[in-house]
Amino acid sequence: MSNPTPSLIDCAASLSSLSLTRYNTLGLACQAKHVLTLASQAQLPEVTALVRKAGGVLVLGGGSNVVLPATLEGLVVRVALKGIAAVAESEQTSTSDQPSQEKAFWRIDVAAGENWHAWVETATRNGWFGLENLALIPGTVGAAPVQNIGAYGVELQERIESVTAWHIPEGKLVTLSREECDFAYRDSIFKRALPGTWLIVSVRFLLAKQWVPVLTYPDLKKHPVLTSLESTGVKAQQILDAVCDIRRAKLPDPDILGNAGSFFKNPVVSEARYRALKGKFADLVAYPQPDQTFKLAAGWLIERCGWKGKRLGRVGVHDRQALVLVNYGGAHASELLSLAQEVSASVRAQFGVELEVEPVVVS
Ligand code: EPU
Repeated sequence: MSNPTPSLIDCAASLSSLSLTRYNTLGLACQAKHVLTLASQAQLPEVTALVRKAGGVLVLGGGSNVVLPATLEGLVVRVALKGIAAVAESEQTSTSDQPSQEKAFWRIDVAAGENWHAWVETATRNGWFGLENLALIPGTVGAAPVQNIGAYGVELQERIESVTAWHIPEGKLVTLSREECDFAYRDSIFKRALPGTWLIVSVRFLLAKQWVPVLTYPDLKKHPVLTSLESTGVKAQQILDAVCDIRRAKLPDPDILGNAGSFFKNPVVSEARYRALKGKFADLVAYPQPDQTFKLAAGWLIERCGWKGKRLGRVGVHDRQALVLVNYGGAHASELLSLAQEVSASVRAQFGVELEVEPVVVS
């Protein structure tokens, strides 16, 4: 983020200085000089005006996927837009001479500042099923499309119709269809765009009324409650509860131990590379992808390099999921990033595989 001209934005009454330590799930110490809390869409034109003066912006949702520096001189917008509204239902429109073209769906608009897990619980309670596999992911609804969150066999892109976002440089609201969001594994148009381009305002979910449980993921298949039920008899709430159980057993609670979930993406390699590695390491964990590539379990690679549970000063590698780096308290971004570099270097040395950091590193 480029430096602002303080004299220009210092005079904006809506800005305040704020410690962001409580607003990033890694709990990294970060003092921000110019923070705007966005509680209403009416403030969006002000965002554009301020960004033009400041020369850049960091848009912060739940802070669950960012590595923040010790001080932020530039403009920060904290998204606090709220609201959940079921907007329309599409019904099956089959007639005797025209077979059904469209399945029945719920369409629900959710404001970007809503807490992700609270929304998943509300949806499940209201009978809007399909999000239960994504329970307990930290962060906000607005942050979810940025990295196309995914867990336990479901990715966000399979459950949304569109995303409405403020195009900051042009100062206008744009609705992008799912195709236009150009989603990929932990990636989207929003993640690839230059910082300061998009501010997500709301997400329109499209949830099929004819719910089909997704129980393909190995951990879910093994869960005692779910295995005891026929797949047709499973309720969405039971999947939600099972996902919460599994996540709580493996992943640290950010309120207790600072973390940003997976710190690295699972690396994707060619079939030839996968076969060569599998030849050497018979217990390598990998998932075949539709395009003949293989996604390797980075947690397995990191654990194999001996990092699981290792601590370096105030940061470390989680003892139940090696893909998660943790802040034991008071750490700065530099400590975490040097641990990440050491982890990547040993995975490169042992397996010849490059790890890519998953959260956005803000400088
Ligand atoms: N594994 C190890 N050691 C570890 C961790 C994992 O050997 O320390 C092996 C396990 O054997 C397991 C395999 O790796 O069979 C996969 O582990 P897990 O099921 O925990 O999933 P993951 O691939 O490590 C991904 C997502 C998670 C998501 C889970 C469940 C990424 C980068 N991470 O992790 O997402 O919750 O699948 O779907 O794709 C996140 O993005 O923050 C996140 C937590």
